[in-house]
Amino acid sequence: MRRIAMFVAASTMSLSLAGCGVLNATGSSTTATPTKGNDITVGVLMPDKINTRYTNFDYPIMKSKIAELTNKQGRVDYQNAASSAPTQAKQLQKMIDDKVDVVILDSVDSHAIADTVKNAEKAGIPVIAYDRLAEGPIAGYVSFDNELVGEVQARTLLEGLGPNADTSDKVIMINGSPTDPNAKQFKTGALSELTGKVTIPADAMFDTKDWDPPTAGKETTKAIDAIGKDNVAAVYSANDAMAAEIIKSLKAAGITDLPPVTGQDADLDAIQRILTGEQYMTVYKPYPDEAEAAAEMAVYKVQGKDIQFDALTQDQVDSPTNKDIPAQLVQVNAVTKSKIKDTVVADGIYKISQICTAAYKTACDEAGLK
Ligand code: GAL
Repeated sequence: MRRIAMFVAASTMSLSLAGCGVLNATGSSTTATPTKGNDITVGVLMPDKINTRYTNFDYPIMKSKIAELTNKQGRVDYQNAASSAPTQAKQLQKMIDDKVDVVILDSVDSHAIADTVKNAEKAGIPVIAYDRLAEGPIAGYVSFDNELVGEVQARTLLEGLGPNADTSDKVIMINGSPTDPNAKQFKTGALSELTGKVTIPADAMFDTKDWDPPTAGKETTKAIDAIGKDNVAAVYSANDAMAAEIIKSLKAAGITDLPPVTGQDADLDAIQRILTGEQYMTVYKPYPDEAEAAAEMAVYKVQGKDIQFDALTQDQVDSPTNKDIPAQLVQVNAVTKSKIKDTVVADGIYKISQICTAAYKTACDEAGLK
């Protein structure tokens, strides 16, 4: 999968280099932006610590890619907002005051951060929006195809329900944070697949503030109370951290034969729950592809390598404030039990020894994970 993605990226790059004809006689870009060398500082802002992907994968992958691209001379100023939008605004403002060269921003609240993004632009500091599309004048965006994430979750959920699924099946829907534009896209994608095929009762559908797992657990309990514990056909959970609490609530309500529960992010504990059958699926988003692209976009931007930057951003997206933002949207994969090996293990995200600890030995043997 990874190899295919890289092949496509490489061929797109050579195509666009040959096709765009913006090389001048010296071979450098004609759209000269002030260039810097390898001695640069990249500010990296991540949104929360609840979801392990940011600390375990996104940030470290970016950091090593930045080192590689700058011959180990580039510095990274890393901050995590721990789910607080005001904290993130302060962190970004401090980076502007400290005159970092470029910022990679994964926003807690894509709307609330817009004014600080404007300050960065005024100070001549490009901001690359990472994963979530921040509002304001951003220089580029890299993310996954987020509607596709929702579609993939929903299609796999329907698969889990089997061929007899119909509108008499009641599905609980626990969505992500209303301040995260991705959450809306996951929901739109999922609804496009579920509508008309199953029923999501109004009192079983929630948007979860801050993606907070305990809140998701409480919402699930409310939904079970509303539709009855014997009537839960499946639970659409927008991510893995919430799925963990949702499953606890299902069990606490006395549901012993767990219905299919979805997730996202391929958290290690979610992979283990999939092995034991507690969670039906997760979505693995190839973090190396996204994080490395962000590092490249940031470094190329400050180094004035416009051709390379353009080659990386062949897509375009609109935010509520800005149009035609150069973007790269990376593909995603559904992970059910039989796909663990070909996705997260093949990509080196987890070693089999990390997944198959003593408690999961039997489940791993059964799933052929050796
Ligand atoms: C989304 C992100 C997901 C998940 C979620 C919870 O924006 O795309 O991967 O981590 O936030 O923080």
